[in-house]
Amino acid sequence: MTKDSIIDVINRRTSWRSYDTDYSVPHEILDELKEYIASFETVGPFGNKARFELLRIPDGERNRLNSEYGTYGFIKGAEYFLAGAISKKKWALEDFGYIFEHIILKATELNLGTCWMAGTFKRSTIARDINLQQDEIIPAITPIGIPAESRRVVGKLIRFVIRAKKRKPWEELFFNEPFLPLKKEMIDESSQTALEMVRLAPSAKNKQPWRIVLDSKGNAHFYIQTESRDSHIHFYQRLDIGIAMCHFELTKRYFKKDGNWKALVPEVDFKSQPYHYVATWIEKND
Ligand SMILES: Cc1cc2nc3c(=O)[nH]c(=O)nc-3n(C[C@H](O)[C@H](O)[C@H](O)COP(=O)(O)O)c2cc1C
Repeated sequence: MTKDSIIDVINRRTSWRSYDTDYSVPHEILDELKEYIASFETVGPFGNKARFELLRIPDGERNRLNSEYGTYGFIKGAEYFLAGAISKKKWALEDFGYIFEHIILKATELNLGTCWMAGTFKRSTIARDINLQQDEIIPAITPIGIPAESRRVVGKLIRFVIRAKKRKPWEELFFNEPFLPLKKEMIDESSQTALEMVRLAPSAKNKQPWRIVLDSKGNAHFYIQTESRDSHIHFYQRLDIGIAMCHFELTKRYFKKDGNWKALVPEVDFKSQPYHYVATWIEKND
C-alpha cells in the first residue's frame, strides 16, 4: 500500500457517526493501527503520556450502544471504541488532543471511520472497561469501524446543525505579529499549507477556537480564543488546540521542516483581547 501524504489524509478525515454492521475491520488493518499506537510513544509536546484501549463491541450489541455507552443514537453500528486516559496534570488535555489526533489520522489513512467524542458518551461505562485509575481522566473516545455507505439522517442532521463542513475564513484565524490578518501570499508554502491544515482540523462543536500568529522568523504562536478575556478555557478548547498543533507539526514535517514546541512568555501583551497563549512552534532554520 502506498502511503498517502498527510495532506490527503487530513483532507479526507471527517467525523463519521454511522458504521457498516455487515463487515468487520480486517485483522491486518486492526493490527496496523495497534502497532502504530504501540510504536508511537503517546507523549505530547508538554511531556504528558496517554494510554489507549481498543474496546470491541460484541456483534449482537453493536446496535445496543445507546444505553451502555450513552452515545444517544449519535453513533450507530461501530465495531470498536478507542478510549484514551491520561493523568490529571498541567497541559494534559493539550497533550491528549495532540496524541489522539495522531491516532485518528492513522485510522483515517487506513480508511477507518472515526469521530472525536468528548461529550456524548457515558464516562462511567468506559471507566469500568479500561480500569480507570484515580488520578486519570478520559478526555475523549472515538468509534472505529468501516464507514457505512452513506450517512444516516441523524448524522446528516448533526452535521447540518453544527455546520460541520464550514470553516472560518483564513483572516479570522491567522495573523501577523500584532493580530493583523496574515496575507497568504507573503508566507512560504510550508506555512501556508500547515495553516490550511489547521483550518481543516476537527474541533468541538466546530467552534475553531485556534488563533495563530506567524512572526517574521517563521515561528507560529498558538492561542485559544475564548468568549471574553475573563471566561475560563473550556476543556474542549484545550483538546482543540492540541489537535491544531498536531496538524501543524505533521504538515511542517511533511515539508521537511524541523522544529519544536516551546511555551514562551508571549512577547506581545494581548490583555484586552480574549486570546490565551498556549505554545509556539519554533522552526529550525537551515
Ligand atoms: C474535542 C472534540 C470533541 C468532540 N465531541 C463530540 C461529541 O461529543 N459528539 C459528537 O457527535 N461529535 C463530537 N466532535 C466532533 C465535531 O463536532 C466535529 O469535529 C466538527 O463538527 C467538525 O466536523 P468534521 O470533524 O466532520 O470536520 C468533537 C470534536 C472534537 C475535536
